[in-house]
This record gives sequence, C-alpha cells and structure tokens, in this order.
Amino acid sequence: MKEIIISPSLLSADFTDVKGALKSVEDSGAQWIHCDVMDGVFVPNISFGQKMVGDVKKATDLVIDAHLMIVEPIKYVEEFARNGADFITVHYEACSDVEATLKKIKEVGCKAGLALKPKTDVSVMKNYLDLIDLALIMSVEPGFSGQKFIFDTLKKYDEFCEMAKGKDIILQGDGGINGENAREIISHGVNCIVAGNAFFKAQDKKEIVRQLGKR
Ligand code: DX5
Ligand code: ZN
Repeated sequence: MKEIIISPSLLSADFTDVKGALKSVEDSGAQWIHCDVMDGVFVPNISFGQKMVGDVKKATDLVIDAHLMIVEPIKYVEEFARNGADFITVHYEACSDVEATLKKIKEVGCKAGLALKPKTDVSVMKNYLDLIDLALIMSVEPGFSGQKFIFDTLKKYDEFCEMAKGKDIILQGDGGINGENAREIISHGVNCIVAGNAFFKAQDKKEIVRQLGKR
C-alpha cells in the first residue's frame, strides 16, 4: 500500500515567517505543501496569490499543491504553473467550463485536481475521471481554516471510491482533519490529508504527521 500523503496548509502558518513554516513542514516528514488561494468572491476570504506560490517554490522542494478557491480559475492556470505549482486543484462550482479548465492544467504540464464543496453531489465527478489526477472532497465550507469536520463527508468518500475504482486518482481530504479523526477518514479511502490548524498548532510536528498518516 502506498503511504498517505500529508499536505500541511500554509493558510494556518505565520505569514511573516513562511520560510520557517516550510522548514517545519520539511522537517516533519510531510511531503506536500497545500497553498489555499482565495479571491474573496468564490469564498468570503482573501488569502494570497501566485506570487506566494512562486516564492514558496523557490524556497522548498516540497510538492506544491495549489487549491484555487477563485472564480474562473482557467484565467490563472498558466500563471500558477509558471510559478511552480505541481498540482492545480480547481472547484467544480467555480468553472463555467470544467473540462476546458482541467485540460488547460494538463496542457501547461501540471497535475489536475477537481474540488467539490460539501453540498455538491459527488456524482458530478463522473464526467471528469479521465482528466483528473486528484479529487478533493471538501469537509468544511471553503474559506477558513480551523472549522469542524463535517461527518457526512465520509459517505461521499465511499461514493467516490466506488465510482473511481481501478483509476489512479488521489483522493484528498481537506477541512477539519486532525490527529483524532484522520484514521477514520483514511479508512474511507482518503490517501492525501490536508491539515491547517492541526499541523501548525502542534508542538511536535513529526508526531502530528505520524498521527495524520496512520492507517
Ligand atoms: C479551507 C481550506 C483548507 C484549510 C484547512 O477553505 O481549503 O485547506 O486551510 O485548514 P484546517 O485543517 O484547519 O481545517
Ligand atoms: Zn485547501
């Protein structure tokens, strides 16, 4: 079995010490860094944009996992690719043409992710299974870190796994995941765990990564 990927979310880090945050992620054994890009329109919060992603890329060898919570992300795909994003994940609800957006991500040489908000039906993924490398089923309303995991998401993971059986698609969990609930989440097929607060608030980063990745 492949190891669980841990992707700490930079949103919960101290933005005056991004280098320190990246070092703490590297030292913890986590493999990815999750970059939550928010435009204040698709979600009621503004975080950071492509320059942050570019600066992060220059400062680390971690895999850059860009989660775009922005309207019509197709307009910015090229720029995020140029700034070093490895995975670009866009929201189904934010694209007027989901297929064109995913194709564009592949065209510019990145891995493509498709994200769903908690209220969006998992069945919408069906049409895109051959275009995506990653599926993100949100377990909180996107916009803020530090929210509580929505328990119903577990069923949605099951539904996705059934639908994507035999396909090589990473299933990412994002929102309210911590050392206490990660194991159950993983048991429902999630193999990439995003953690904001749980990671950055933890004193012992190696230990939290161990807990988040435990089967
Ligand atoms: C929410 C973001 C998440 C968030 C995770 O919109 O997509 O990545 O930062 O933070 P926690 O783990 O604290 O819920
Ligand atoms: Zn995220």
